[in-house]
Amino acid sequence: MPGVVIKSQDQSEKNLWLSRRARRFGRICRQRLLFWLLSLAVIFSIYFVYFGIKIHFHGTDSPLKNVKEASNVNNVAGRPKKTHRQRFFPCEVSFLDSVTHLLEPKDNTKFTHFSLGYVEREERALRNEAIEAQFGGHQTLKDREKSYHATNQTIHCGFVRGPEGFPSTGFDLDEKDKMYMNTCKVVVSSCIFGSSDFLRRPTSKVISEYSKKNVCFVMFVDEQSLAKLAAEGNVPDERGNIGLWKIVVVKNLPYEDMRKTGKVPKFLSHRLFPSSRYSIWLDSKLRLNADPMLIIEYFLWRTGSEYAISNHYTRRCVWEEVLQNKRLNKYNHSAIDEQFHFYQSDGLTKYDSSDPKISLPSFVPEGSFIVRAHTAMSNLFSCLWFNEVDRFTSRDQLSFAYTYLKLTRLNPDKHFYLYMFKDCERRAITKLFHHRTDT
Ligand SMILES: *[C@@H]1O[C@H](CO)[C@@H](O)[C@H](O)[C@H]1NC(C)=O
Ligand SMILES: *[C@@H]1O[C@H](CO)[C@@H](O)[C@H](O)[C@H]1NC(C)=O
Repeated sequence: MPGVVIKSQDQSEKNLWLSRRARRFGRICRQRLLFWLLSLAVIFSIYFVYFGIKIHFHGTDSPLKNVKEASNVNNVAGRPKKTHRQRFFPCEVSFLDSVTHLLEPKDNTKFTHFSLGYVEREERALRNEAIEAQFGGHQTLKDREKSYHATNQTIHCGFVRGPEGFPSTGFDLDEKDKMYMNTCKVVVSSCIFGSSDFLRRPTSKVISEYSKKNVCFVMFVDEQSLAKLAAEGNVPDERGNIGLWKIVVVKNLPYEDMRKTGKVPKFLSHRLFPSSRYSIWLDSKLRLNADPMLIIEYFLWRTGSEYAISNHYTRRCVWEEVLQNKRLNKYNHSAIDEQFHFYQSDGLTKYDSSDPKISLPSFVPEGSFIVRAHTAMSNLFSCLWFNEVDRFTSRDQLSFAYTYLKLTRLNPDKHFYLYMFKDCERRAITKLFHHRTDT
């Protein structure tokens, strides 16, 4: 059949003969041609639909998206290609009208109480052997196993220094900044390392006078990012602020991987702000668009939770997340496999929504926004999750469910009040931008 098309464009005798013949046979021939062209179109459509579905089976997305993808591929054959992106919308979040009558619930006795200490220095292992001191320390697998028990104990949780006289393990802060951070009771924090983002100031008009006075807004930056911000006209004032953000410079970053370094303020706000009782983390791609006290009331107090994080907008299963990470080349594949196989051999299961014992709406979080009470269980979970990121990859969506499942499995009589809220709620309280360097 394709031969006909080529011949019809040709000026050869054959072509003339063909057209004469076509005239002779007139309508019948044209109908036949139409029939064949239609058949060809149908065959092509079927092929493309099949091809689209095949893409899907290798992938991870919902059937709904799959249909869209397939029809999108169909468009390629016909109309000019449009870049297609699935859109996600915010949903209603019923905050209180104001912070005026906000009342912290009485000390919640249902939360598990125990006392956590943190490894400050590592002495013995480093003395004789030529092992470098590390920010995350050298936690053995035995230490790791023990750390999952919710009891009085001392665990690794970053900020581990070597013996006296050893060089710093990193995340060095100015003493004045430390003194300021020690005073914070409620914290909103974020970070920009490696100039990965622009500075997004919280939307000032939605933030109450109470919060402006009583909440610490801290943006951690490295020197490179600070210089870049300054070059763009964002220079801290004499108090070290840019808008509501107090800029805190971090020197001597503990990891070469900037994303891993970013997990220090993300997970360890209870260590950075030792007097704080609540913290909100937001990724620097987000602009805070709601009052922090109202956020704490809505996500923690109203739900009786000690840790709140949103679920992922499309993925629920770690198996899907692993595939997606590899497909987008987010990280060294063998490092991902190493972590994933370790987790499978230690209790990580596929997400099964029909399982009545399933305790989370998803095993994959969208961790760019986290609300925390600094209770024992919440702090323990934060340390454990951080240690997984320190030991394995910086892709924290891979370790979230494993950490949660292991913690709850090993402490059946000590409930961890983790609330996984809808991603559309996250979208309602933060405005999303693209990273400066979107990778
Ligand atoms: C845990 O530590 C707290 C004080 O930090 C203490 O009151 C409590 O008795 C300890 N619990 C156990 C089981 O040792
Ligand atoms: C990838 O990860 C593996 C296992 O962790 C490691 O041995 C290898 O050196 C890494 N490759 C690169 C290019 O970083």
